[in-house]
Amino acid sequence: MKNNTLTGIQVTPVEKSKIDQVDFENLIFGQVFTDHMLVCDYVDGEWQRPEIIPYQSIQLDPSARVFHYGQAIFEGMKAYKDDQDDIWLFRPDENYIRFNKSSKRLAIPEFPEDYFFEGLKSIVQLEKDWAKKGRGNSLYLRPFVIATESSLVAAPSTHYKFMIICSPAKSYYAGEVRVKIAESFSRAADGGVGYAKAAGNYAAQFYPTNLAKEKGFQQIIWTDANSHEYLEEAGTMNIFFRIEDTLLTAPNNDRILDGVTRKSIIKLAEDKGINVEVRKIAVKEIVEAAENNTLKEIFGSGTAAVINPIAGFSYKEKEYNLPHVEDSYAGHLKKALMDIQYNISEDKFGWRYKI
Ligand code: COI
Repeated sequence: MKNNTLTGIQVTPVEKSKIDQVDFENLIFGQVFTDHMLVCDYVDGEWQRPEIIPYQSIQLDPSARVFHYGQAIFEGMKAYKDDQDDIWLFRPDENYIRFNKSSKRLAIPEFPEDYFFEGLKSIVQLEKDWAKKGRGNSLYLRPFVIATESSLVAAPSTHYKFMIICSPAKSYYAGEVRVKIAESFSRAADGGVGYAKAAGNYAAQFYPTNLAKEKGFQQIIWTDANSHEYLEEAGTMNIFFRIEDTLLTAPNNDRILDGVTRKSIIKLAEDKGINVEVRKIAVKEIVEAAENNTLKEIFGSGTAAVINPIAGFSYKEKEYNLPHVEDSYAGHLKKALMDIQYNISEDKFGWRYKI
């Protein structure tokens, strides 16, 4: 073991990096991991010192609570390398706040701020060669916590493991996606965990999404659980609609993830003078706008996907295709966002965080 003098986090380095075996031009999202990972255990009522060790499997008892009761939450973040080889995170304070909001909702002890930021800095510095330059390249960071106590009693664990794993990434979706509006399935309900990045929120989407995929759609636009009349999220992304020159997105509530990309897009759009309405959006309104050609764009937003245009949707067995728009809001906003993330433009909102 040697001490990392920059941060005091213990680092056990790999003997030989596997970076030379990676084809960085043809990455599939989330399939390749860097040489190291950060681990930090919660025992005896407190988080122990984080340490960085070679990327490896972890061993858990089959009765570990995460396997039975899904007590697990995560975050999605990215590190971006600029042309001078400096590395940046984007609004990591927002991820930290949401990490602990999610933890609280899942009865997981909150994670200390200095461990989170020291941990991120140390692992990203160590793995900096895995972050490649160029727009669209990034090092995807996945901090997460799982309940590790061995027990089948349905109660919060007394032991947890926090980890950060890192994966070099290009784009999440291969291009435009087609989506199906949910008419019976729901992603989240009032009073539930929809706003948290709870692992189970994603598992619950797989079956309805598979049914949609069988019909040729990549994702589902989730509607409210009570009436299925209001549009809320697109698959694993927040959702935006452009009717004429107004950008619409659903307001945050119990059911909707408070997306960092979503809130940044709202700010950037307002800054560009675009009229943004954050309000309930009825399915009926979007169908009518598609029918009378005032619906110009739909796009999803998220850390992994950034901004992903949606080419069309289906509702009650009818398909609606969106026209091709020159100078799309999606294109402009994605460029503005990425220019900040890659240290190309001025950071007027103070969103960049240097590693
Ligand atoms: C992200 O956008 O970072 C997410 O957490 C979504 C995940 C399905 C990749």
